[in-house]
Amino acid sequence: MVRPSVKLGSAKLVVICVSLLGFALIADFLWASSSPSSSYFPRSTFKTSTIIIPKEKEQKKKNSVRLLADAYADLPAPQLVWEKMKTSPVPRLDGAAIQIRNLFFVFAGYADINTVHSHVDIYNFDDGTWGGRFDMPKEMAHSHLGMATDGRYIYIVNGQYGPQCRGPTSDTFVLDTETKQWSGLPPLPVPRYAPATQLWRGRLHVMGGSKENRHTPGLEHWSLAVKNGKALEKEWRSEIPIPHGGPHRACVVANDRLYVLGGQEGDFMAKPGSPIFKCSRRMEVVYPDVYMLDDEMKWKVLPPMPKQNSHIEFAWVLVNNSIVIAGGTTEKHPETKKMVLNGEVFQFNLNTLKWSVIGKLPYRVKTTLVGFWNGWLYFTSGQRDKGPDDPSPKKVVGDMWRTKLKLNE
Ligand SMILES: *[C@@H]1O[C@H](CO)[C@@H](O)[C@H](O)[C@H]1NC(C)=O
Repeated sequence: MVRPSVKLGSAKLVVICVSLLGFALIADFLWASSSPSSSYFPRSTFKTSTIIIPKEKEQKKKNSVRLLADAYADLPAPQLVWEKMKTSPVPRLDGAAIQIRNLFFVFAGYADINTVHSHVDIYNFDDGTWGGRFDMPKEMAHSHLGMATDGRYIYIVNGQYGPQCRGPTSDTFVLDTETKQWSGLPPLPVPRYAPATQLWRGRLHVMGGSKENRHTPGLEHWSLAVKNGKALEKEWRSEIPIPHGGPHRACVVANDRLYVLGGQEGDFMAKPGSPIFKCSRRMEVVYPDVYMLDDEMKWKVLPPMPKQNSHIEFAWVLVNNSIVIAGGTTEKHPETKKMVLNGEVFQFNLNTLKWSVIGKLPYRVKTTLVGFWNGWLYFTSGQRDKGPDDPSPKKVVGDMWRTKLKLNE
């Protein structure tokens, strides 16, 4: 596989520093038995041909002023008025969702760490009701799915099969949302957890995610020609590898370009020998990075998110040429080492390539599922924080909220 060229000397030094820091700071976390993956090399080792910065330098200045250690802190954000809607029939962590007009198809997810869902619930934005529950195929993964739609068919790639930190599957599925019939596509070459997935120029693109051990970032990128719910090819095609791998990124197509935003490298993995594949924590690095592919088929670097953000694969909508993202996870707390959730609503204006923080959610939440209908921004499900003063994750929720969306120019 093609890897971006790296300066070996400085890269080695950085790995040593990072390793020492890691052992000193998080001695209670088990490291993967192998040495840290080469993908833990910092971003600077990735050479890009083009860096696009917005015309005005304001955003850049703001970012550089923020100290790295503040990455876990809440950002100042306007208060929004949130209206509580009907709660989802079940709570969900790591669920998946696709909006098709007024219907919001919500799939899978953990009810709690030992229990996963294997069905779809549908929320109707027009009348504010949940209904139309139907089963997923029993071979379909229950979390860490990649999904995209053409407006009728939903294309679904692999993910984790079962609760805790169980193994992944490479199976792929198609749902016809009009007939509720399921069918399949050729399986991915290898399984992945939470790869970035999107339909672009008639091809289903799947990239990054975690490899089979749930922790090691994958860089591979594949695509498959699809039409009307069917594969037009027998095999996935290899595409340009993603700059850095890992799960839980947003992947958006707008103006015939493909964007990937945020995400992380590393994730919880099954405790060796555990009969229930019990999740144990591993080193994670969360990214604010934004990359874009266009006609050139070379990754271009765009201005980063206002803070590191992961677990946002279904937490975005595209409105008026802006990507709007709700919640997520950021860098772990420097003292408690606990996971820190985000409670902001972010806007990336694709006209100006400027990020802004346009509001606060009612609470911090990760893997929330986001929709937009008739001027309202909706979010449901995910794992929320312990409270206003404690940003670490606690309750898995099914609450549904909405607010009138006001975008910045
Ligand atoms: C999107 O643009 C339309 C047309 O300019 C405008 O009426 C609408 O308010 C905008 N939506 C949001 C959420 O800003």
